[in-house]
Order: sequence, then C-alpha cells, then structure tokens
Amino acid sequence: MSIRPILIHPDPRLKKICAPVEGVDPSLRKLADDMMETMYDAPGIGLAAPQIGVLQRLFVMDFSGKDTPPDPMALFNPEVIWASEEKNTYEEGCLSIPDMYEEVTRPAEVKVRYLDLDGKTQEMQLDGLGATCAQHEIDHLNGKLFIDYLSRIKRSMITNKMKKLKKERALL
Ligand code: NI
Repeated sequence: MSIRPILIHPDPRLKKICAPVEGVDPSLRKLADDMMETMYDAPGIGLAAPQIGVLQRLFVMDFSGKDTPPDPMALFNPEVIWASEEKNTYEEGCLSIPDMYEEVTRPAEVKVRYLDLDGKTQEMQLDGLGATCAQHEIDHLNGKLFIDYLSRIKRSMITNKMKKLKKERALL
C-alpha cells in the first residue's frame, strides 16, 4: 500500500465526470487499498478517486469514528437509487479543500447501489453522517465539490484561499 498525494482545489481533474469501472480487478483493489491508506493518513472519513487524480468511479469511506472499530468500505460505480424527502444539514469539509468547513443540506437518508471489492452488486441504506459522506463522495465522481452548494461569494473566497495555499506549498 502507498499514500498518494491528494489534489487541492482548484484543479481541473476535480471538475471531471469520472468513467465507470468495468468490473473490479486486482489493480482496482490495489487502488482502493492506496486510497484507504491515504484517507486514514490524512485523516479523513472519505476519499474519491479523482482526489488522487484517478478519473474512475470509486470512493472509500469509514465514518465509524474514533471510539468504534474501523469499518473501511470501498464502493465502485456507486449510485444513489433512492433519497429521502427529509433533509439533514452537516458541516462538511473535504481533503481537497483543507481546513474549510461549511454547512451543506442534503437528503437525510439514501440508498446506494455499488459494486463491492469482489465485484458483486450491493445495496446499502445510509443515514446520518454516512448518508452525507456517501453523497459528498459520489458528487466528487461527477466533478462536484461541496463548495458548489455555497453562495458564489463564499465559493470564490474559499477558492482564493486554496490558490494561496497551493502557492505557499509550491514554495516550500
Ligand atoms: Ni471531498
């Protein structure tokens, strides 16, 4: 396993619609392992493939929290097949937009269909943090970031901060 560099917004690769995977082969399982390690190292609760520059439809997540055993999940070709009318608002962050947190409102419950690590079709019903996390990660696969839900002014403020951060990092 290896830790991959995480792309920071703005980056054209974070705005792309990712391609579906055709089955889950050993190289995709290796990719999911790397993403898992990268996510835990960051640390974060979710990471989508485009965030490490791979434009394929997969993400990893573990929203179990500090006080419970780890519960890593890898989802390939995930899609929301049902969403509740009821909404939930969470303060979201993103490993590609470090240290920025803003409230985003999304459906409170979703049902997600995906391929698991064995390439088998699975369905999972999520609520709470898990529902928000899965929707945030699926957005990544469609080139959408959580700041796209914010006002234009807030979005450009955050984008300018990220441009500055990238310049500072490049100088190190
Ligand atoms: Ni994110």
